[in-house]
Amino acid sequence: MRTFSAVTLPDPIALDDDLLVHGDNLDVLGRLPAGAFDLVYLDPPFNTGRAQERTTLRVRADPEGGRTGFGGRRYATEEVVRRAFADVFDDYLAFLGPRLERCRELLAEHGTLYLHLDPRESHYAKILLDDIFGRDCFLNEIVWAYDFGARTRRRWPAKHDTILVYVKDPAAYWFDSEEVDREPYMAPGLQTPERAARGKLPTDVWWHTIVGTTSRERTGYPTQKPEGVLRRIVTASSRPDGWCLDPFCGSGTLGAVAAQLGRRFVLVDESAEAIEVAGARLGDARAA
Ligand SMILES: C[S@@+](CC[C@H](N)C(=O)[O-])C[C@H]1O[C@@H](n2cnc3c(N)ncnc32)[C@H](O)[C@@H]1O
Repeated sequence: MRTFSAVTLPDPIALDDDLLVHGDNLDVLGRLPAGAFDLVYLDPPFNTGRAQERTTLRVRADPEGGRTGFGGRRYATEEVVRRAFADVFDDYLAFLGPRLERCRELLAEHGTLYLHLDPRESHYAKILLDDIFGRDCFLNEIVWAYDFGARTRRRWPAKHDTILVYVKDPAAYWFDSEEVDREPYMAPGLQTPERAARGKLPTDVWWHTIVGTTSRERTGYPTQKPEGVLRRIVTASSRPDGWCLDPFCGSGTLGAVAAQLGRRFVLVDESAEAIEVAGARLGDARAA
């Protein structure tokens, strides 16, 4: 594996080794070869785009105030910054949009994109992806359900993430269900012993624990995703030796799984800490 910093970044970047790249992914994605990737997995932070700030005036009665109103009463005004709800999403989509568009270009004709979000913004991103890929390229909405942490009593405790899956070409995409790990049937007694022993193909709802504090795979990087979830994605949607890309790699989970499964990878993150953690995890052979 080679590691590049934003300063040493070649243009174009050749896919001659697994890569760990430090830099803004928009810049890095532009230097990668189009059509080269079986799989792109994106796990962006929520709300990265700067929210637009709108200023409004708040008026209150104040005998010392600088404004005179009805009946000679004095008022003071102050500026209040309001953050409009819709703007937050507009800005988030403005951040994601160009990155998703470029990721689509980087996919091979048989390629698949997985966008990992939480239910607060996944519906906005789905409309954006319909626009970029075409509605007929929507493959799945995967629910990753976990069961960990505090439980509010004020609503149904939110314990799932949403992973949106789009393919470049609905007639040509790669999907290997045979290699995917299987699950126990809910009612194994209703199956033949052979079928019960083999288990069933997972559906679009995946129960999988988070990375626990004592887990062997834990790196300490916040927001680290479990290898089990990524293993399914990489197994089903990339070919042996195929190239996998993670533009928001964090601790490098996609790379770790790709290496275990005999795939090639390109990982990108703008955080020096992420590059440090992912580099240590993946066995760093640093370039100059
Ligand atoms: C949710 S974390 C990814 C966690 C990762 N899937 C894992 O298993 O460790 C999102 C990552 O995106 C990175 N990031 C945010 N904006 C970025 C940008 N414009 N370019 C590259 N990386 C970015 C952050 O530094 C953070 O490490």
